[in-house]
Amino acid sequence: MDNKSVLEGRPALERQIAVIAEVAGYLWQKGWAERNGGNITVNITEYVDDGMRALPAICPPVRTGVVLPHLKGCWFFCKGTGKRMRDLARYPMENGSIIRILDDCSGYEIVADNPVMPTSELPSHLSVHNDFVRRGLPYRASLHTHPIELVAMSHAEKFLRKDVLTNILWSMIPETRAFCPKGLGIVEYRLPGSLALAEGTIRELEDYDVVMWEKHGVFAVGPDIMEAFDQVDVLNKSARIYIDAKCMGYEPDGMSQEQMHEMAVAFNLPE
Ligand code: 13P
Ligand code: ZN
Repeated sequence: MDNKSVLEGRPALERQIAVIAEVAGYLWQKGWAERNGGNITVNITEYVDDGMRALPAICPPVRTGVVLPHLKGCWFFCKGTGKRMRDLARYPMENGSIIRILDDCSGYEIVADNPVMPTSELPSHLSVHNDFVRRGLPYRASLHTHPIELVAMSHAEKFLRKDVLTNILWSMIPETRAFCPKGLGIVEYRLPGSLALAEGTIRELEDYDVVMWEKHGVFAVGPDIMEAFDQVDVLNKSARIYIDAKCMGYEPDGMSQEQMHEMAVAFNLPE
């Protein structure tokens, strides 16, 4: 195998991969990425030049079982299945790979740098990216991770009713209302990696940028991977404050509806 990385001579792409690696490091440091927990995919099509397009695949094509027509011509960086975020942080091109979607949109092939098979959550990730292209949204990044406090709260049925958790989390600290303005959607428990999980996620992403996968983790999207990470970080901070208050023996009051409304007006947020 050629030892030259596809990133060589492509500083803009290299920078994107460096930011993905930086976020992978944060996920590990936060304790949200035990073993191979979590995954990241980023649509990197805008950084692909003719030289890259001419590269041969390094593995046979893989059919995913679903045809995603809006991904025609798209390229992605994907964390590898079974790979650790803490390793991705140091060696992104050994713990993730660059894939291109097949011309008939029925699957993908790995182009660089190593034959690392993409994450088992690829059905959710690619379906979500397909939907972004279909809707003409500028979103390029998808992140799945296991934030401890948010997952802990997803084990109580009372929090899973529509927007109950959103309102509790918004009320813990004004910034959550401002920086996660759509709140948190909920997808009831589904088998990891399943199409049912992908479909539930797409449905919720019509209204939210972050969705909770009950008793599993969260799936967040954004224009870039740092913004997707920030939204989860902000929400999990609120979950932590709620749980800390409960641990001190009281139910936190939370900001009032009037105070949250005041935030919405001041920051021009949707209500
Ligand atoms: P992968 O290692 O296949 O990305 O899976 C991690 C995970 O969190 C599954 O939900
Ligand atoms: Zn997971």
